[in-house]
Amino acid sequence: MSVFANMWDTVTTNRKVGGLFPNDEDGRAWSDDKNGIPALLSPRNYGVVPSGFYRNLGDDFSAVIAKFKAGGCEIVSGAPLPPDFTTFWTQARQQGFRPKAASIAKAILFPAAVEVLGDAALKTSPDRKAAAYFNSAPAGRRGSGLGHIELKQILPTRLAHCLIFTSDVHGAIGYYEKVLGLRLSDHSGGNVAFMHGVHGSDHHLLALARSSGPGLHHCSWDVGSIDDIGRGALYMADKGYKRGWGVGRHTIGSNYFHYVQDPWGGFSEYSCDIDYIPKGFLWNARDFADEDGLAFWGPQPPADFVHNYEMDPDARLPA
Ligand SMILES: [Fe+2]
Repeated sequence: MSVFANMWDTVTTNRKVGGLFPNDEDGRAWSDDKNGIPALLSPRNYGVVPSGFYRNLGDDFSAVIAKFKAGGCEIVSGAPLPPDFTTFWTQARQQGFRPKAASIAKAILFPAAVEVLGDAALKTSPDRKAAAYFNSAPAGRRGSGLGHIELKQILPTRLAHCLIFTSDVHGAIGYYEKVLGLRLSDHSGGNVAFMHGVHGSDHHLLALARSSGPGLHHCSWDVGSIDDIGRGALYMADKGYKRGWGVGRHTIGSNYFHYVQDPWGGFSEYSCDIDYIPKGFLWNARDFADEDGLAFWGPQPPADFVHNYEMDPDARLPA
């Protein structure tokens, strides 16, 4: 906390700090009058306006923002869960609350939580493995909350990779090595191949699958957690897009996934926790057996999962 206060001392503010205190162990520890931030900041002449214990994974921070605005807070601190900070920060901007400083523990350890802020945050391409958030509760608490979680549109943090069809997987590997400097991560014979960039990259930015000709198989969208994969699939099914494949985990790339088929036969993949290949790291590409080409675990894929509808436009999607 003294590090935070040292930073705030370099900014001209009214020294009023909005405290984001979730209703969990962290929130209670941070807000504690004797050992929490009010006691630590008081000798530094900072005052804390507490948020009140708000429910984790909530959708509406209006009441908290109103408190901070009414309290004249020019600084925000606390220990929110990553998705909650994203929600809070987005709504704070929408509601005209723009603190001069925000020093947040826990939530901004996760790049994914910052990246979804879009133009409200400095955007950078990932230069480290995108953290996946696992919503685990401590003993004695319910990890899934207190009942039914409402359907929610899941917004991806970024476009992670694409898989394209090609009639010549080995030829395409050579082409992308030569023109873009991509490197082979892994492959399964001449059926599928996965390539990464040299500046530090997800296991694959581009994947190739053998077909009779060109086509786009899927775009993969990174989300922050397995919960978001499941909730994204639920939301899409509720909107009528029930065809797909998942939830499962890939062997090659190791990411968790759920694919949703679009009306034209292609797929959108909700994905998290894909392997990462650091800059300058020598990754030994492996040739995986056919049966490892699709999944480490998961349900059977639909019969048309690798059907190239672009080469077969008259084909009907399964009912
Ligand atoms: Fe993928």
